[in-house]
Amino acid sequence: MNKQFDVVVIGGGPGGYVAAIRAAQLGWSTACVESESYADPRGEVRLGGTCLNVGCIPSKALLQSSELFEQAGHSFVMHGISTTGVKMDVATMMQRKDNIVGQLTGGIKGLFKKHKITLLPGHGRFVGREDDRWQVEVAGETVDATHVIVATGSRARHLPGIPVDNTIICDNVGALQFDSVPKRLGVIGAGVIGLELGSVWKRLGAEVTILEALPDFLASVDQAVAKEAWKVFTKKQGLDIQLGVNITKVEVAREGVTVEYELGDEIRILQCDRLIISVGRVPHTEGLGVENVDLALDSRGYIGVDHNCRTNLPNVWAVGDVVPGPMLAHKSMEEGVMVAECIAGQKGHFNPDTVPWVIYTHPEIAWVGKTEQQLKNEGIDYRTGQIPFAANGRALGQGDTTGFVKMLACAKTDRILGVHVIGNNASELISEAVVAMEFNASSEDIARICHAHPTLSETMHEASLAVDKRPLHLTLMAARDTR
Ligand code: FAD
Ligand code: NAI
Repeated sequence: MNKQFDVVVIGGGPGGYVAAIRAAQLGWSTACVESESYADPRGEVRLGGTCLNVGCIPSKALLQSSELFEQAGHSFVMHGISTTGVKMDVATMMQRKDNIVGQLTGGIKGLFKKHKITLLPGHGRFVGREDDRWQVEVAGETVDATHVIVATGSRARHLPGIPVDNTIICDNVGALQFDSVPKRLGVIGAGVIGLELGSVWKRLGAEVTILEALPDFLASVDQAVAKEAWKVFTKKQGLDIQLGVNITKVEVAREGVTVEYELGDEIRILQCDRLIISVGRVPHTEGLGVENVDLALDSRGYIGVDHNCRTNLPNVWAVGDVVPGPMLAHKSMEEGVMVAECIAGQKGHFNPDTVPWVIYTHPEIAWVGKTEQQLKNEGIDYRTGQIPFAANGRALGQGDTTGFVKMLACAKTDRILGVHVIGNNASELISEAVVAMEFNASSEDIARICHAHPTLSETMHEASLAVDKRPLHLTLMAARDTR
């Protein structure tokens, strides 16, 4: 007889492993299928998916190392600390990153043991349905499940005619394991990966050129933030970002990569030693056997789901990057929890309107809710409060005053509609705005909350006061000047 489970999760990334843990907590016998995409040094399958193995966690480790290198070389001096001969040992930086990945992926295996979740290593594939139970084949064995949660994630989108070898031409996998700092790095796509990984190698000394197809920089980000980011990245940090390009040819030769592209009427050539392709990600359903059970995909290849992540099939659910919506680890995890709770007959909660975004450049960029351009397009009447970190004592003490907090609130109800931060620690500051928006708070609610002094969070407080034209530590005129 086939092994029987209440819940089988296919995919062990943030969506899948969290769904499995929550299902087990709720008392279901649970298994998680994870293919051999990622393996530890002993060849054993690793949990954690893209996020832990080749995404969020390794990229943030490299961002931290490279930021410290940058600070040691350029920012310590303002504190009176002199440094000479600061060097980066790339192998040590990579080993540290790998250790963090190993620690966290191993930790999930520990969590699985604790929750008595069965790990089924191998590629999972739907093979059919019998007696109201789904059959999933894994490594030649078929298991039966009352519920299946598909969490097979995404993979990097590649461009036709540009072969990725993950040594010279890399997607996120190769770009996180360079063995040396390239002298000249080319990046195609000025999105989240292009900016984060471009920043890493720029800080370590590479000449970085980023080629972006769209004419606008960070088109989906609030335009005030995008404008500030453009200024800092290009003018202060020296990232060469070309907008509105059309890549026409990429050739690899012994001396490196040649990228030919059109910019307006001109044909230009970029010579580089390595090239990162970061032009978005696509949902991963290859080999999943969707055709065996008629699991419906939408026109872009995502698994179609309702607001509770139900697919077109009874008791088959899908979460994370494989379903429409932002491709973010925390969004995947929230959906995983919601589905497990729905399976248990609970209501399940996930609010797509309060999913925060963070770009971990320096300064960091973080936001939640609507941008000013969205509000304009939707004809919503709003008020704005924008306060620069230059007016914040903690930021001055830290020697890092770039950026601002911008709050957008409904003109009629004062309910917060969006908050946009560019600056040091924006990733942490945005949480206050997420909590506020989740509870339908108004800018006045934030204005009445006591914020510790001196902290960067006081800038959020001041921004909420500025919505009502009453900032305490900045004249309204100066607040307006930052826009
Ligand atoms: P995945 O993490 O992709 O996991 C899917 C898993 O399913 C994989 O382990 C795969 O091997 C397995 N699988 C697929 N098909 C099968 C099958 N048929 N059988 C068995 N197993 C299967 N997000 C953030 O929120 N913050 C960040 O800072 C961030 N940084 C990122 C940096 C980079 C460089 C990249 C590439 C992504 C980053 N992301 C970040 C996005 C984040 O990694 C994804 O949104 C998240 O991993 C999606 O989780 P998931 O569980 O849906 O899918
Ligand atoms: P992205 O969607 O953020 O950016 C891709 C960029 O490439 C876009 O600006 C797009 O216009 C451009 N582009 C597309 N085709 C092009 C072409 N032919 N030539 C030139 N430019 C082209 O995708 P990215 O950076 O690959 O990241 C994928 C996803 O991974 C992100 O959307 C995000 O969901 C997730 N991620 C999240 C991070 C975070 O939360 N901090 C960090 C990294 C990735």
